[in-house]
Amino acid sequence: MESIMVLFIIALSLIYVYFKKSYNYWSGMGVPQLSPSFPFGDMASVIFRKQNMGDKIKEIYEKMKGHRYVGLYFFSRSAFLPLDPVLIKDILSKDFQHFHDRGIYYDEKNDPLSAHLFSIAGPKWKRLRAKLTPAFSPGKLKYMFGTIVECGHQMISKLNEIAEEDGEVEIKEILARYTTDVIGSCAFGLECNCMRDQNAEFRFMGKRAFTQTVGDVMKMVIIRSFPPLARILRLGVFSGSVTSFFNRVVRETLEYREKNNISRQDFLQLLIQLRKDGQLDEEMSNDKHTIGTKLTIEEAAAQAFIFFLAGFETTSTTISFALFEMAQNQSIQERAREEVTRLFDKHEGLTYDAVMEMSYVDTILFETMRKYPPAPVFLRKCTKTYKITNTEVHIKEGQSVLIPCYGLHRDPEYFPNPDTFDPERFSAENKSKIWDYTYMPFGDGPRNCIGMRFAMIQAKIALSIILKNLDFTLSKKTKLPLTMEKKGIILAPIGGLWLELSTIRGQSTYL
Ligand code: HEM
Repeated sequence: MESIMVLFIIALSLIYVYFKKSYNYWSGMGVPQLSPSFPFGDMASVIFRKQNMGDKIKEIYEKMKGHRYVGLYFFSRSAFLPLDPVLIKDILSKDFQHFHDRGIYYDEKNDPLSAHLFSIAGPKWKRLRAKLTPAFSPGKLKYMFGTIVECGHQMISKLNEIAEEDGEVEIKEILARYTTDVIGSCAFGLECNCMRDQNAEFRFMGKRAFTQTVGDVMKMVIIRSFPPLARILRLGVFSGSVTSFFNRVVRETLEYREKNNISRQDFLQLLIQLRKDGQLDEEMSNDKHTIGTKLTIEEAAAQAFIFFLAGFETTSTTISFALFEMAQNQSIQERAREEVTRLFDKHEGLTYDAVMEMSYVDTILFETMRKYPPAPVFLRKCTKTYKITNTEVHIKEGQSVLIPCYGLHRDPEYFPNPDTFDPERFSAENKSKIWDYTYMPFGDGPRNCIGMRFAMIQAKIALSIILKNLDFTLSKKTKLPLTMEKKGIILAPIGGLWLELSTIRGQSTYL
């Protein structure tokens, strides 16, 4: 027993010495750092769920403002945090060839669903990105417009019912069902019926994919710390039930459509075309990265899956925060309603052209994503050692890099009175005054968000239908000031966002 104790103390001491030594990595290179402590480095508050990652990195950004960059530690592992927008531009765009990866674990062989556009890197990513980009072209989005509007109809009929009852609603949940229905029908070709059926399988799986059980946390520790062991143990990134559900849904729908020669206006149809022809028509016929390589069924499933994961929560929180801000600011709400009414009258209803002309609603969404960026931090991994200009500092190959989007968006140097919601910052007149690489809700550079236009259309359809049909104020149930969930990556308010809805009488409504 005694000898086990001695061995344990020796092992612990060695680990302690190793960690302590690791904590000199950045200072040894002349990179400013905080005061990391054993064993969590700079992340104790995140590990103990006192703070979410977005808030933590924003806090560090504010504390270290004035430096071009900061060195961080996650346990004993180092991470690099650039603060200067010019350096961020170099990393994301100018010197992209050094940073084309995110460093996210995937295992194409044992867990093909994990090998999607968000996680893969190098030439494989480049080829897939080129193949998928045309699926988000204005022409293809116009083609899906009717499918999204149909989900909007279901949402407003639900909200109208609520308005007729007591009018009180937790809007984030309704919008998560709306965006799940949208992506379910656009990426998976299904009518998920989440709006009516709160236990719909799709909504359940969406929630499950974003919830971490103790088992999931332990799995992630192995995946992050010992990727080769994770591959040997065939550990999947998501729970087995989530993986098999999405694999089954895509396989069955693809096979059904191919066998019965059914065509529908959605992403899945485009993925079917990529499976058959390897390319999406003439738009890309000259691109050497795409010719001759067809998508396998597993690859198609993985892409539909990431469209769902990357799209539903980010978009629904954005719409919810926009409604939250408008509920507190009636003049902004009225001005948006006037724009929507004018454009519905001009275009005789909710058409693609009406949505494209909604410039004031655009500014509301841009300002919402400034104040509440759904992805407050995003990632790069250094793929080739990189020397930072005008310094002797080298970012080594394999180094994780974090981009502090939330910190930049709330920095008074770039956005005066940053806590004030002011859509005018994004008016045609003011937009050009925003400094490059200080506003990045969709990331930036070649690896930015591929779904940006789709997200904006989906959000504008929801906002315009709501504004046209309903008046809304903040319910007393919303806890102010908002505090964000302590876990998870996406900013989400604790207790939800509660609104009081009332029907607008005496107006013809367009659905
Ligand atoms: C308001 C809604 C959304 C926000 C704020 C958002 C934000 C982001 C951000 C910050 C990134 C990382 C960018 C970077 O690293 O530079 C990203 C990547 C990505 N997003 Fe979105 N996103 C949204 C909606 C969507 C939707 C609707 C889809 C799909 C239908 C989507 C699909 C993706 C994919 C596939 C990537 C990875 C792109 C690549 O690595 O090539 N996103 N998104």
